[in-house]
Amino acid sequence: MMNPLYDRYQRRINYLRLSITDRCNFRCIYCMPSAGVDKCTHGDILSYEKFLMISETALSLGVEKIRITGGEPLVRKGILPFLDQLSSLQGLKQLVLTTNGFNLLQMAGSLREIGIQRLNVSLDTLKPSRFESITRIGTFEPVWNGILHADSLGLPLKLNMVVMKGINDDEIIDFAALTLKYNWSVRFIEYMPNSDGSQQERGLSADDIYQRINAIYPLEKIDSHELAGPASNYRINGARGSIGIISALSCSFCSSCNRIRVTSTGMMRNCLFADSETDLRPYLEVSDREGLKAAIKSNVDKKPRRHHVGWGNNHSPALHMSKVGG
Ligand code: 5AD
Ligand code: SF4
Repeated sequence: MMNPLYDRYQRRINYLRLSITDRCNFRCIYCMPSAGVDKCTHGDILSYEKFLMISETALSLGVEKIRITGGEPLVRKGILPFLDQLSSLQGLKQLVLTTNGFNLLQMAGSLREIGIQRLNVSLDTLKPSRFESITRIGTFEPVWNGILHADSLGLPLKLNMVVMKGINDDEIIDFAALTLKYNWSVRFIEYMPNSDGSQQERGLSADDIYQRINAIYPLEKIDSHELAGPASNYRINGARGSIGIISALSCSFCSSCNRIRVTSTGMMRNCLFADSETDLRPYLEVSDREGLKAAIKSNVDKKPRRHHVGWGNNHSPALHMSKVGG
């Protein structure tokens, strides 16, 4: 049994999120400015080998779950062999992936074989024309068909909808209703303000989202250890799937936060809203495993008790989700 990793507030840190690329084949309005983000040059992006070294080291320190995010992870070349290698690392109990779904028709079978335990698919609308305006350059059908394909292979699915007032909030009920038909976890995410839209214009609070659904489909609260995380989880009576409402801004889950993150360029962050990062590259470049271990531990040690961005406080986190991996 590995020694568990704790921060100074006695939170057990066992969940590592790796943003393996900042590129994406979509340009979602809530995620990227229309001009796109300045792309890291290829040389800045960590090699898979380095991500494996980070993973191995984090696992040796007590991490048990790894999520691969982006940008869009399934657009990076060589992703499948990388996931395959990652999945066999010692100590890894859960390997999961966040995707926009565009490549699932093609890749879900391999992901299943590799042993990816769950997919989180970002989906903000069920209307094809609206999908094109939210993602700017995406198309709905391949994503929806990819989701159904992954489902038919038995891959457990979470659907993440970022709720935006006047943009897709009229579909909250349609998304909730998906759980009647499918065994999915449909999750509603509070919009995090950025340069593209303020919280006042776009935001709908977790409580508002709850009220809207509950008025049509009375929700039963479920607390399941398996579902632990930043979401409050519910079920519509008799539904196959479950509903999660994620307060990205309300700080309700900081006290049980178990995560650390590494960006595509090797910067470690102990909080989504962290203002300090630890550059892991110096240790990776010379394969200094002990140094890497110490750097990870010391970053965990500085994990803040809570973040100070909040609902009703329009301080924007000033970060691109495409870089930090949501
Ligand atoms: N607000 C909320 N969630 C966001 N994400 C990215 N940008 C935002 C934002 N402004 C998260 C969502 C999305 C994933 C790719 O990143 O969960 O599904
Ligand atoms: Fe790409 Fe996801 Fe950002 Fe959309 S939200 S631009 S799919 S990384």
